[in-house]
Formats: sequence, C-alpha cells, structure tokens
Amino acid sequence: MTVRTVGIDAIAFHGPECYIDMGDLAVARGVEPAKYIKGLGQSAMAVPTPCEDTVSLAVAAGRKALDSFGIDPADIGTLVVGTETGVDHSKPVATYVHEYLGLASNCRSFETKHACLGGTAGLTAAMDWIAAGRARGRKALVIAADIARYGLNTPGEPTQGAGAVAFVVSERPRLLEFNPDIYGDYTRQVMDFWRPLYSKYAFADGHYSISCYLDALAGAWADAASKPNASTRMPISSLDACFYHVPFVKMAQKAHHRHWEAEIGHAVSKEQPAELARINASYELRVAPWLKLNATVGNIYTGSLFLALIDYLRHIDATREGRTASVFAYGSGCGASLLFARVASGAAAHRGKVDPQPEIDSRRRLDLAQYEAIMRAGESVDGNEAASLDPKSWNLGPGLYYLGTRNHMRQYGR
Ligand code: HMG
Repeated sequence: MTVRTVGIDAIAFHGPECYIDMGDLAVARGVEPAKYIKGLGQSAMAVPTPCEDTVSLAVAAGRKALDSFGIDPADIGTLVVGTETGVDHSKPVATYVHEYLGLASNCRSFETKHACLGGTAGLTAAMDWIAAGRARGRKALVIAADIARYGLNTPGEPTQGAGAVAFVVSERPRLLEFNPDIYGDYTRQVMDFWRPLYSKYAFADGHYSISCYLDALAGAWADAASKPNASTRMPISSLDACFYHVPFVKMAQKAHHRHWEAEIGHAVSKEQPAELARINASYELRVAPWLKLNATVGNIYTGSLFLALIDYLRHIDATREGRTASVFAYGSGCGASLLFARVASGAAAHRGKVDPQPEIDSRRRLDLAQYEAIMRAGESVDGNEAASLDPKSWNLGPGLYYLGTRNHMRQYGR
C-alpha cells in the first residue's frame, strides 16, 4: 500500500557553543566589515571546538527533535545522517548516533553524501521508504550535520560554520507535508567545491560555485515545471515562503532572483528597475524574514536549508497553515532538488518547540586569538593517540563530546 502524505513531524537544531563576530573577523583580515555583514549577509559564525564533531552535533540535534516532540526512539525505523564531514571513510556517523540515541536494533541506518545536498537526499530517501509502505507505522529520523571549514585566511573563511538539524519524517506530519507529485532534480559534474580525502579543508572556486548553484536551481525548476499540473502549484506568487540552501545569506537573495527569472523565462538586469523591484519585494516577503538564524550560525552545509525552515516554523501562526513553500537544496559537485511543501494543519501550536534562539543567545563570543587557536587545535587531533580532549578545557556545558582516538577508535564521553 502506498502512502501519499509524507512530511516533517519534528525538527530541531543544535550548534556549537562558541562563535566569532563577523565584524571582528573582518577587521582581523583587513576587510571592511560591511563586506561580510552586508555583502555576504553574515553577522556571526559558529565555531566548533575540537570536542564538537559531526557525531556530537548530530546526537544533540537528534535528541532534541525526539524529546521536544515526544517521539519514542523505538518508533524510529530508519536513521539517515546526511553529511559531508563524516568522521570515517567507511563507518557511518549514523552508527554512533544510533547508539547514543538508543534506537532499536531493527532500525536501518546509513549515511548519505552529496556535499550540501546530503541532508535532502536523506529526506527524500526517508520519504520514499514511507511512501512505498515499508515503514509500517514507524518514522524516519534524518540528521543533517556538518562542520564547514575552508581554513584561516582563505576567501571561504567568512562562509564557515557548523551545526546539525535533525528532523523526523512520518506519514502523519505535524509540521510540513511534501507534495508527492511536483518536484525537480538536477545533476552535473562540476569542480566548484570539493574536499579530497586527504584534506580537512574544502577547496572552492568561489565565484564559479555561485554560478553552478544558480544554474542547478534553474535546472531543478525546469524539471519540476515539466510535471503534470505543475503550472498551478509552483508560481512564486502562490508561495508563502521560499527556502534555499544558504551557504551565506546573500546567496539566498541571488537564488530568489534566479528562481524568479526561471519562472518568467528571461533574465532580469539592472536596466529593468521595475521588475527588479518586484523581485526584491518578493525576496523581502518570502525569503529574508527566515534567514536570521543562518546569519548568526554560518554555513552548516547539509543543514543550512533546514535552518531557514526552522526560522520560518518558529514564527508561524495559524494563518500560515495550509500555505505552500518551495524548498531548494544544492550540493556542490553538483546536484540539486526542488520540493514543494504545505504547512500542516495545527503546525503553529508547535512553534515554541523548534526555536533555537535561547541556545544561540547563550553562545560564547571568541576573540580572534581564541578562534584561531581552536581552528589550529582541531587540525592535530584525529589519529593522534597522545592527544586527549577535555570538554572542560573548552568550558563546554553538559553533553556528548568527542574525546580523541585510542587504538584508532573514536572515543565519546560526557
Ligand atoms: P569574495 O571574492 O571574497 O567576495 O568571495 P566578493 O568580492 O564576491 O564579495 C562578496 C559580496 O560582498 C559581493 O556582493 C560584493 O559586492 C560585496 P555581490 O556582488 O555578490 O552581491 N561587497 C561589499 N558589500 C558591502 N560593503 C563592502 C563590500 N565589499 C564587497 N565594503 C565567496 C565570496 C562567497 C565566493 C567566498 O567567500 C567563497 O568562496 N565561499 C565558499 C564557496 C561558497 O560559499 N559558494 C556558494 C555557492 S556553492 C554552495 O552553496 C555549496 C557549498 O555550501 C558547499 C556544498 O555544497 O557542500 C559551498
């Protein structure tokens, strides 16, 4: 028996306990602060200590999603961790998460990788599992968790970040229902951003990556538009919100511009001020209000898109129930998916459960020396059997943390 209604039943964010102010970083790099704050749209950037790795971030987000929505770990039949900063070439992050969340032994688990598309690939795999009738009443837990690192003094440095978004996918979603018929996909082999197996840091052809992202958006849009009855369901004017992958806030603005162009079928330049004004008004209405969390966390790769979604969900009231939003995911390399989702009836009652602002407000601000020390400390930890990590030395609160390797095995503790 196939299931038609599948969507997001619970969602939560967890991020590192420290951050750096983008003005401080700009001054240190000899750059005008306005470039990072206005030009990229970023006011702060999450900085993970060496004890906060992909596993520890994923576990904390997964725990919050289950606890705050009252979901029994025994009800999870599939666990997917989407990440491009896995901790092992072979063993998936999902196995650690499975243990620390106390999931059932008959829960299947795996890791998905396609740069920032990995979380959405996990979402669509979970939706297919449920839609095919294989879940038999159980739910899927999908966690998008990453540490975005380009390194000190690189052009990508102001677009780093870290964090995890966990969401539960079910056939009776309390938050968001995906349209099973209208969706678009796109794949093309490009070298816009990559991280070879030997490198902790990503390499990016930054400006080219922006054009690859925008072309992928147009490609995924065209695929979605080719589906039967798409023309009545997709117009931007009918959407309450448009979510995009957010490597930095300004990228979402560029994305909305291209989304608009795809819909009207031609490019819009500075020489068309009236049309530009319409695009900007639409951006202010449908996109900008939901980018505040991304502006203070930075790029969290697979989870960035879902962080914008959390920003929307934490603000909704009953008038938004039943409204539709577009959801665009991009992963360098590259691949993209465009989905459409409807706010579930009763979703507004849950908005208080998804708001991570108190956690973000309690983060500690690092000065530049502390930030650089943390970045350097993270370089020599893995595989260094003599190095032991102590969460207390980084003043971390209670939680599960990475403690280093023993006999080539990762150690976690509280
Ligand atoms: P850059 O060359 O340092 O910056 O690289 P820029 O010169 O392009 O300036 C950035 C913006 O600031 C521009 O705005 C400037 O005009 C503006 P725009 O013209 O684009 O609208 N600006 C100022 N504004 C106000 N006051 C000023 C000022 N000065 C300049 N004084 C870049 C920026 C994003 C390319 C770089 O940081 C980078 O390479 N980042 C990493 C790659 C990246 O994030 N790519 C995004 C698309 S690909 C993607 O999203 C996938 C990804 O998440 C990975 C994955 O899939 O896993 C990255």
